[in-house]
Amino acid sequence: MKFLEVLAGEAIWPPPLWLMRQAGRYLPEYRTVRAKAGDFISLCLTPALAEEVTLQPIRKFGFDAAILFSDILILPMALGQDLSFAEGEGPRLPPLETASLLSPDRAAGVYAPVIETVSRLRRSLPKETALIGFAGGPATVACYMLDGQGGGFPRTRRLAYENPRFLRDVLAILTDATVEYLSAQVNAGADCVMLFESWAGMFPPAQFRDLVIGPNRLISDELKRRHPGIKIIGFPRLAGLMLNEYTQKAGVDAVGLDNVTDIATARAVCPPGMVLQGNLDPLLLKLGGKPLEDAVSALLGEMHGYPHIFNLGHGITPDVPEAHVARLVELVRRG
Ligand code: CP3
Repeated sequence: MKFLEVLAGEAIWPPPLWLMRQAGRYLPEYRTVRAKAGDFISLCLTPALAEEVTLQPIRKFGFDAAILFSDILILPMALGQDLSFAEGEGPRLPPLETASLLSPDRAAGVYAPVIETVSRLRRSLPKETALIGFAGGPATVACYMLDGQGGGFPRTRRLAYENPRFLRDVLAILTDATVEYLSAQVNAGADCVMLFESWAGMFPPAQFRDLVIGPNRLISDELKRRHPGIKIIGFPRLAGLMLNEYTQKAGVDAVGLDNVTDIATARAVCPPGMVLQGNLDPLLLKLGGKPLEDAVSALLGEMHGYPHIFNLGHGITPDVPEAHVARLVELVRRG
């Protein structure tokens, strides 16, 4: 598989391609299945439906990798925290008051349907398509658990200074649970895994080291001990200059870049051999036309000769016209 060869450090031309949030509301067939499931969490926990929406963008666009359809917040839910998705408003959880409220022992039972989705995908995906398992990075998941919703995470930011022990306790539980969760996905057939640290960039350097790099490293080390050769993609979004330390110390094989990071500079600050994934501005996929064509050609040109997985710098938005996605695929395939 072209995708796994690049993950192993090979430069392949033209580069393999997939898109974050490639299954989602911009696809009418996704909206149909989503309506049938009733709500988003039921969709994540119904293997036949989660399998179907994972496959939809592969059938339509022939991406080189499929990402398991689920959500990073299924893990806190499995640990016992209530979770709901208010229509059009994003996730809501009751802000966690103490780490002892979490029950790691029951988690595997709750996320079992997600693991079943991975097993089904292993059988139904075309043999040339890689399957990406994933989890949220512990710091990012803790942000939602402690604040209860997105939007700056003011409580988490305060706790990192005022009650670092509480935050560390939560991160320790999440780190262990994430290892078990990702390990189960690999056992069920995931070819590689991705850690979404979407809010990494919110933490000042000392906290970035403790809360992001530390737990990511523990997860990478233990996964590689259990599954020799398994590849890990980190996504420390908005890491800025901490990208250097992250790629040196987090134990990842590849790094997803956000769209405010200059990819040539990223290449210069990452250790030799680090695979880069990204990082087209998702807005270009909405706009289409010449701005899209020019940016794709610049990104391809910049990364020609280096191990690169073509992707966006963040997820596709629901307002993206399918025709623009089809055009992007055509441009990348042409090289
Ligand atoms: O196609 C894929 O990328 C796979 C599935 C996937 C989803 N979420 C599906 C989803 C993945 C890998 C995620 C990761 C995720 N979830 C992240 C990290 C990546 C990022 O975007 O930064 C985060 C922070 C979340 C938490 C989350 N889930 C939020 C904040 C929201 C609401 C925002 C929104 O887009 O509605 C979700 C909901 C969500 N997760 C949807 C999908 C397809 C939309 C739900 C719907 O159909 O109504």
